[in-house]
Amino acid sequence: MIADSSHVHAGQIRTDFVSFSNRTGLRLAACLDHTGELRTRPWVIVAPKYGETKKNNLQLAYYLAANGLNVLRFDQSNHIGESEGRMQDFALPGVVDDIIGCLDYLEQEQGAPRAVLVSNSLSARCAFRAAARDARISKLISVAGVVNMQATLREVYREDIFGTYLEGRHWGLTDILGFDINGEIFLGTAVEAGMHDLSGTVADIAGLRVPLVYFYGMSDAWISYDDVRRATAGQPRSHLIAVEGAMHEVRENPRAAEDVFRQIVWFSRSDAAYPGAGQAPLQIPDKKIVIAQNRQERERMRRSETPVGTETDFWSGYLEKYSVLEKSDDYRAYIELLGRLCAFRPGALILDAGCGNGMFGLWVVREALRQRRVTTVTNLPSLYVGLDLTERGLNDAMGHHGRALGQSLADPVPKALPGTGYAQFDFNDLTDAAGTPRLPFADNTFDVVCCSLVLSYLKRPHALLQELRRVARPGAVVVLSSMKPHCDMSVIYRDFITQQVTETEVESARDLLRAAGKIRLKEEIGHYAFFSDTELAALAAEAGFTVHESFNSLGQQAIVIKAQK
Ligand SMILES: C[S@@+](CC[C@H](N)C(=O)[O-])C[C@H]1O[C@@H](n2cnc3c(N)ncnc32)[C@H](O)[C@@H]1O
Repeated sequence: MIADSSHVHAGQIRTDFVSFSNRTGLRLAACLDHTGELRTRPWVIVAPKYGETKKNNLQLAYYLAANGLNVLRFDQSNHIGESEGRMQDFALPGVVDDIIGCLDYLEQEQGAPRAVLVSNSLSARCAFRAAARDARISKLISVAGVVNMQATLREVYREDIFGTYLEGRHWGLTDILGFDINGEIFLGTAVEAGMHDLSGTVADIAGLRVPLVYFYGMSDAWISYDDVRRATAGQPRSHLIAVEGAMHEVRENPRAAEDVFRQIVWFSRSDAAYPGAGQAPLQIPDKKIVIAQNRQERERMRRSETPVGTETDFWSGYLEKYSVLEKSDDYRAYIELLGRLCAFRPGALILDAGCGNGMFGLWVVREALRQRRVTTVTNLPSLYVGLDLTERGLNDAMGHHGRALGQSLADPVPKALPGTGYAQFDFNDLTDAAGTPRLPFADNTFDVVCCSLVLSYLKRPHALLQELRRVARPGAVVVLSSMKPHCDMSVIYRDFITQQVTETEVESARDLLRAAGKIRLKEEIGHYAFFSDTELAALAAEAGFTVHESFNSLGQQAIVIKAQK
């Protein structure tokens, strides 16, 4: 479709921060990405996905800007990000107002009479409505767009939230995909506007006077392809494109995402407003400018958002939901991988930095027993040390390990266990009285160091890695992991609930998914950072480790690397 490509270098794309009101008077914060020709080039509006901000559309926006399009990406009102309003008041008709507010701004302030609209997931449902109402939208591009919200929420929660609402149940303040939302407002306004089920979408799409391009992930667990076909059947100008290897979160698969970005560029440029441009060679924005801009926007959000509650409270609450993860096949395979990589042998001393509920430690203890060919021990040599921020995690870890070591169930949290040690420690505060970074261990102590799904949540991951290097013996194996950027936790959730699980376990799995939503939010506002394989390897190398291999695990949603001191 697009023959060849070249790279756009730093300095050619600019981002301006602007703000304007939507039609209900709420201020919207937006970014304009462009190459300086605001008045002459066509515009693309990029609506954020539910639970995300404009920052998450930066990469796509720079693709578009590098190819001669001006982009307006915005934060939804009553949502996370910099726009006005409270998340609990979030409502779908409000997002429609936001999109129309963007069109007003482009027309009045930038002299742009029309724009292509790109939307993703839930914002797509609002984009269908906006495009059915406002002729200034010249083309609609939807990525994994929700066409039947009732069915999608039923798929996620295994409960018909809209159905029970329509039968009269009051939902009050309720968790919708990781955020506390006023259920009466959210459900009530969606129903009133006819945006909750398939029939409303069918009507909106049938009423479109402009082309609709719909990308659907072939492994999308939350959108039924049959529903997409039904939603678009009445619209001869709709064009469905299958994205191989893509889940609901298309960006989780960088290759699929790149393919979709390229096609979005092509479809945006081939809009009537820009005749002939569809054939021009594709320009790819230089990765470095995207990374630099991303860092700047993350800092901006970090300054503007104050997290509520302490990290200890947050992680204690999170670990409370962990028991369900422990039962999932994906997590078990992940722990097996950590175990295999650490190449445990008798006599080795292992540090588990950020041990949580001690599931990796449980693997170590079981392996030690297996290698000794016994099921219980009272005099195990030093084997395992777990450090964590939370007392909750450490207590659970001791309980798990204690039971594996044959302690009586009447004493689920033993005071001391053979061969193991536990300590509460905050990796964000690694300095001693003299200001020198110090874990409470001598140099060259451990044969194996594991730091599983922890580095992303620290202010200075590099500082911990340096300390891990100090306390590791020369030649020690180091296993590090991180969730992938744009990871899709729904995969693990879906795989789990399709196992033979009880109602209570489904309920706990929902809790865990909500908790994962909170982690995504903290990542979104810049308090946490997920790493790709190259970023994680670079961090390890910077701290002086030699990186050997990297793996995808945890339903392909996490990166694990094996390194050595
Ligand atoms: C996602 S859990 C991972 C737990 C465990 N390593 C695993 O893989 O199952 C993140 C863990 O990091 C710990 N953690 C987060 N911030 C920390 C900090 N500043 N210092 C020490 N531990 C921290 C949390 O308490 C939690 O146990």
